Amino acid sequence: MKIAVVGTGYVGLVTGTCFAEVGIDVTCIDIDQKKIDNLHKGILPIYEPGLEEMVSRNVSAGRLHFSTNLKEAIQDCDVAFIAVGTPPGEDGSADLKYVLAVARGIGESMNNYCVVVTKSTVPVGTAAKVRKELDDALAKRGAAIEFDVASNPEFLKEGAAIDDFLKPDRIVVGISSERAEEVMSRLYKPFLLNGHPIIFMDIPSAEMTKYAANSMLATKISFMNDIANLCEIMGADVNMVRKGIGSDARIGTKFIYPGIGYGGSCFPKDVKALIKTASENGYEMQVLKAVESVNDAQKEVLFDKVSKHFGGELAGKKFAVWGLSFKPKTDDMREAPSLVIIEKLLAEGSTVSAYDPVAMEEAKHSLGDRITYAKDPFEALVDADALLVVTEWPEFRSPSFEVVGKLLKDKVIFDGRNIYDPAELRALGFAYHCIGVKTAHKEPA
Ligand code: UDX
Repeated sequence: MKIAVVGTGYVGLVTGTCFAEVGIDVTCIDIDQKKIDNLHKGILPIYEPGLEEMVSRNVSAGRLHFSTNLKEAIQDCDVAFIAVGTPPGEDGSADLKYVLAVARGIGESMNNYCVVVTKSTVPVGTAAKVRKELDDALAKRGAAIEFDVASNPEFLKEGAAIDDFLKPDRIVVGISSERAEEVMSRLYKPFLLNGHPIIFMDIPSAEMTKYAANSMLATKISFMNDIANLCEIMGADVNMVRKGIGSDARIGTKFIYPGIGYGGSCFPKDVKALIKTASENGYEMQVLKAVESVNDAQKEVLFDKVSKHFGGELAGKKFAVWGLSFKPKTDDMREAPSLVIIEKLLAEGSTVSAYDPVAMEEAKHSLGDRITYAKDPFEALVDADALLVVTEWPEFRSPSFEVVGKLLKDKVIFDGRNIYDPAELRALGFAYHCIGVKTAHKEPA
């Protein structure tokens, strides 16, 4: 089989590389010449564990190609994936101009039957718009070439994207013809060996599935954050409550960890977009509106704890921040809670010294030189009034607390991810604040 993947961002690059890995001939296309030049040199636009080696292996094997030439790549293609960005517009709805421009480009270039698949997360109804662009472009050429459109949402987690792609829980494909179903079954066959299902459905349902999945996951998180906040007030321990409810298989143990709110490129954008789609169609997503507002508030919870601890006197104080990316194993800073927390500290006249294993370069785009960047976690602590743990990178999980205590001016830790044992820290003389845990440090009344 021969496929083209348009867009060499996160989704496109992982998709193209993983298909090449199972022996399919893949061309990844982007309009950004610099990106393509870099990819030829083995320089990736994103950080994802294992991806660099996989790209270079498949390029060497002659199965993975990079190009700016859509026309050439689309020739004799069986499947063309559209994996370009859908940035949120001012009003929260996904902007489809890149998706539709690519569809037009495909229509202007294709020379044989091809399944054109939307891989970007797009609102319900987008495949119909893609079909129209293709029809119009082909009509303009006077070409009578058959094609199908399909919707194939991705469920990749940053930091685990390769594994998620190679060993998916499920593959969802929206189709409207048997021919497209046959092509997509053949394409995904190598990924179904361990009994993972491919679920075919109509196109609008596939488009909706992506939003429903992300919104459900975001709902679990906001729900747990709400419970954690209430646990603190009522003297309960959210870690116990989490274990207690998670052992009910209907609820499950995953995605019920409270923290400082969800970030990243998917949850915030998709929740917003679904609320918007609903309201445009005369329906109010009441639960999701609450999910969003709980999340906005949760991003401020750690700052509020800092402010309370220091009696609102934050001017001139220095804070060490461990972790900047929205979650570990990625350099992605989009919607990262760290940005909200740091901006609030800076606005109070505090200084911040931050350390992140991979996201510091990305962070500079928004924080610039308004904070300092430490070369290791311990350097960030020197003379700081407190440590804030913002992202749960593995290397922060078990530091020498003796060294931490010596470097900090005062033994104070604010842990936004509940990664330490409150009893242990208390025994070591730390004031330890975390999220929803009964044994967390209590401010004197
Ligand atoms: C998510 C979905 O998991 C994935 O299926 C979809 O394709 C894209 O969106 P991703 O954004 O990479 O993936 O991150 P994920 O690991 O799901 O975490 C999202 C956010 O939720 C992070 O900010 C994380 O810190 C937060 N989170 C996650 C919690 O606060 N608590 C949890 O229990 C789990």
